[in-house]
Amino acid sequence: MSGLLSTRDLSVDQIVSLLAEADEMKIHGVGGAPKSDALKGRTVASLFFEDSTRTKVSFETAAKRLSADTVTLAVGSSSVNKGESLRDTVETIGAMGVDAWVVRHRSSGVPLLISRWTASPVVNAGDGWHQHPTQALLDAYTISRSLGTDAGLRGVKVAIVGDIRHSRVARSNIDLLGRLGAEIVLVAPRTLLPVGGVIAGAVWTDDLDDVVADVDVLYMLRVQRERINGSLLPAGDEYSERFALTPRRAAMLRRDSIVMHPGPMNRGTEMRIDPADLPQSRILEQVSNGVAVRMAVLRSVVVGGLASEGGHR
Ligand code: NCD
Repeated sequence: MSGLLSTRDLSVDQIVSLLAEADEMKIHGVGGAPKSDALKGRTVASLFFEDSTRTKVSFETAAKRLSADTVTLAVGSSSVNKGESLRDTVETIGAMGVDAWVVRHRSSGVPLLISRWTASPVVNAGDGWHQHPTQALLDAYTISRSLGTDAGLRGVKVAIVGDIRHSRVARSNIDLLGRLGAEIVLVAPRTLLPVGGVIAGAVWTDDLDDVVADVDVLYMLRVQRERINGSLLPAGDEYSERFALTPRRAAMLRRDSIVMHPGPMNRGTEMRIDPADLPQSRILEQVSNGVAVRMAVLRSVVVGGLASEGGHR
């Protein structure tokens, strides 16, 4: 098996070298600079079975800046709606010649399934509540480059705030940032913690005011309304009052801390301040870093031998 299905496929050394490679990728295809030709003549196929704006565009941009050919299947316009099975879809597109797959699906485990039907590497672009490994990589990159900590994150205090239960972003980040040495605090109502309780390696509080002045990174999560059973969410404005980033809380942040969000933001729910008014915001840097990090990942899985070791998931 090859590809990138979970953050757990990566050793710390592999993470560090992907982030270093992302540094090199940053120059390509920006402001008139030449593209990399690392994937010239290769084809990257993206299968997005769930809505996505930034992740889909980010992977496509990354593939193009590596000079790959791209094929994108958005489910709304594909034969999947005519009842073609997932396997038939993958085998049909695969028969046209695909060197790497990028897969997003609302069900956990679909990228793994697809990896069993193809010899080409599969990169998980988000599956259900499970994993979103390239998001965690771009977040680690953004934190280390913003705080000047190079690769490791030893001693960096990260608060992940909000709907942790339904968040593949949280799951991937807790694993990856934790293994790079970050201290992780989960800030959430008990009902939005993962089903099995606090994930190993992290501590929990439901008092955002208590941690906001103390963290290096405030990582806000989107409230995933489409995945939430209503009774889990504190009623009305109570969620925002307790867990949103408000101007009052923003004023408590250290000046040298940073604020992140994977997008899309729910303004007025978890974000009650405009990031444009927040000097600590790195939300747009996350988006631009995402392209460089995905370039490093795509290059590595196609020609650089980034092999999933399997068995860790
Ligand atoms: C996240 C996702 O889809 O998992 N967004 C993203 O990839 N940029 C987070 C979210 O949807 O809340």
